[in-house]
Amino acid sequence: MSKRIVTDLDVSGKKVIVRVDFNVPLKNGVITDDNRITAALPTIDWLTAHGAKVILLSHLGKVNHKDPEKTEGDKKKNDMAPVAKRLAELVSAKVTFVPVTRGPELEAAVAAMKDGEIVLVQNTRYEKGEEKNDPDLSKYWASLGDLFVTDAFGSVHRAHASTVGIAELLPNALGFLVQKEVDALSAAIYNPKRPFVAVLGGAKVSDKIMVIENLLKIADKVLIGGGMAFTFFKAQGKEIGTSLLEEDRIEVAKEILAKADGKVILPVDTKVATEFDDPKDIHDVDCDHIPADYMGMDIGPKTIELFSKELAGAKTVVWNGPMGVFEKPEFAKGTEGICAAIAALPDCNSVIGGGDSAAAAISMGFKDKFTHISTGGGASLEFMEGKDLPGIAVISDK
Ligand code: 3PG
Repeated sequence: MSKRIVTDLDVSGKKVIVRVDFNVPLKNGVITDDNRITAALPTIDWLTAHGAKVILLSHLGKVNHKDPEKTEGDKKKNDMAPVAKRLAELVSAKVTFVPVTRGPELEAAVAAMKDGEIVLVQNTRYEKGEEKNDPDLSKYWASLGDLFVTDAFGSVHRAHASTVGIAELLPNALGFLVQKEVDALSAAIYNPKRPFVAVLGGAKVSDKIMVIENLLKIADKVLIGGGMAFTFFKAQGKEIGTSLLEEDRIEVAKEILAKADGKVILPVDTKVATEFDDPKDIHDVDCDHIPADYMGMDIGPKTIELFSKELAGAKTVVWNGPMGVFEKPEFAKGTEGICAAIAALPDCNSVIGGGDSAAAAISMGFKDKFTHISTGGGASLEFMEGKDLPGIAVISDK
């Protein structure tokens, strides 16, 4: 990669603004998965160890600025305070949390920083101008620092004030996490060792059309499971019972199958149940014989076997999207089976796209079994689509 990285900057005694992605899941104010915080620690620790004053910016959740009745509630729900608490437990440097995104309190906290200390600023989305990449907001935030580092891989597909706006105004570089993500994903997407097998799942075809199209050009096989497989079955004229269907994507699914040239492999059996919320009469059926009043909730055992055979010998695997409703233990076997099959491949560059598939792989105990598990959901998807990511494009070349 030719982009400047954090070690190319002279950071000692400098105020370094670091955009991180601390958009972590919270339940009643408690962080349920701190993976995104720990993933940014190498950059934060390197900067503090090299005498930088580290000013961290991140968004958390969404804040609705269009409906004033919702704004305050969203802000309360997405307050960065629990993140600051967790961060302080994970680093040896002093962490000061500033509960605002601008003004005297923030400026005083920055002015009081000593070398090697950290300030974590309140959720960037408290600011209306953040998602609009507002130039005045970018200018204000940039005025707080000397240098800018992006380590927010999960947010590099967003052209916001904190991801792109500040980067345009300050000398900048990539952090270690973004560098690692880009290296792993580039090796798979732009320079894959073959055979290259892609595994795609998740609920909706609409979310994955561009990634399927791109992977059909570059992968040797594309295995499709999850809820989106049923729209493909419908496109083949099969009956799918009450399974998930995107009526308006049937034509696209037909087009994809027509140009797939045998590369697309669909499930052969599915685990069905009577309904989603209170599933009853769970059993496996052939995909040619899905009963009218049943819905497919996971791939079946024959499909796990078929997909495992297709994966055997692969030297590159990218996987994005679960094979079934893995949050319910009765329907986790498909996702778990595919995880196990990928994890067992020798000498394979295995890259798991973020979001649900990463969460599934980690919760099922496969955290260290893949070459790389991305911290980006939308960002890794857009990378796999072959798109340029604005938060990376804006960083200067070496
Ligand atoms: C993510 O969770 O994918 C990133 O943090 C980006 O969040 P966003 O989709 O709300 O921009």
